[in-house]
Amino acid sequence: EAVAILISGRGSNMISLVKQASGYRVALVASDKPEAAGLVWAAAHGLATWSLSPKGIGKAAYEARLDAALHEAGIGTIALAGYMRLLSDDFVARWRGRIVNIHPSLLPLYKGLDTHARAIEAGDAEAGCSVHVVTEELDGGKVLGQSRVPILPNDDADKLAARVLAAEHALYPRILSEFVMTPFDHVRDVALTLPETE
Ligand code: GRF
Repeated sequence: EAVAILISGRGSNMISLVKQASGYRVALVASDKPEAAGLVWAAAHGLATWSLSPKGIGKAAYEARLDAALHEAGIGTIALAGYMRLLSDDFVARWRGRIVNIHPSLLPLYKGLDTHARAIEAGDAEAGCSVHVVTEELDGGKVLGQSRVPILPNDDADKLAARVLAAEHALYPRILSEFVMTPFDHVRDVALTLPETE
């Protein structure tokens, strides 16, 4: 299965997906940030890369360019890994059930940003990460797998983030491998949970 990994930054999850690829191959690393550190690593390791800054381009036109790059690379599945741009409902619908994301919390807890600070603030004993199917609802699609880590007494957001990140690197390749072997189950699950339309 040809996978595209979308990144916006350092790309440590992308690197672990590349290094632990099994049942899929990383056919494209794409970014909305042409200066993303992860792109440099990907190119240096012989991977195909694509990047385009969204500045001055409308969202629909931007996503049409991205979509074209994905199709040109023969992509079947998209893995978001620290991709900080929201995909439009149209884009998600076109790739329904074929986009996954990793989120640094135990979903459904702490959707959105600042997950680690919020978990510490709440006095939680545990934090973690979740790999989920991407739907139109932010961080709201079916959870495919989770990994838990303890929150320790002297944790701050950075210390906790480092512990969770190590768990992310182990979890994401494993779950992506499982996902690409059974994608249609997920398409069906997502379709079944779609809100009813008139
Ligand atoms: C990770 O914590 C991921 O869960 C979140 O953004 C961070 C990206 O880190 N969505 P990296 O670019 O993979 O190093």
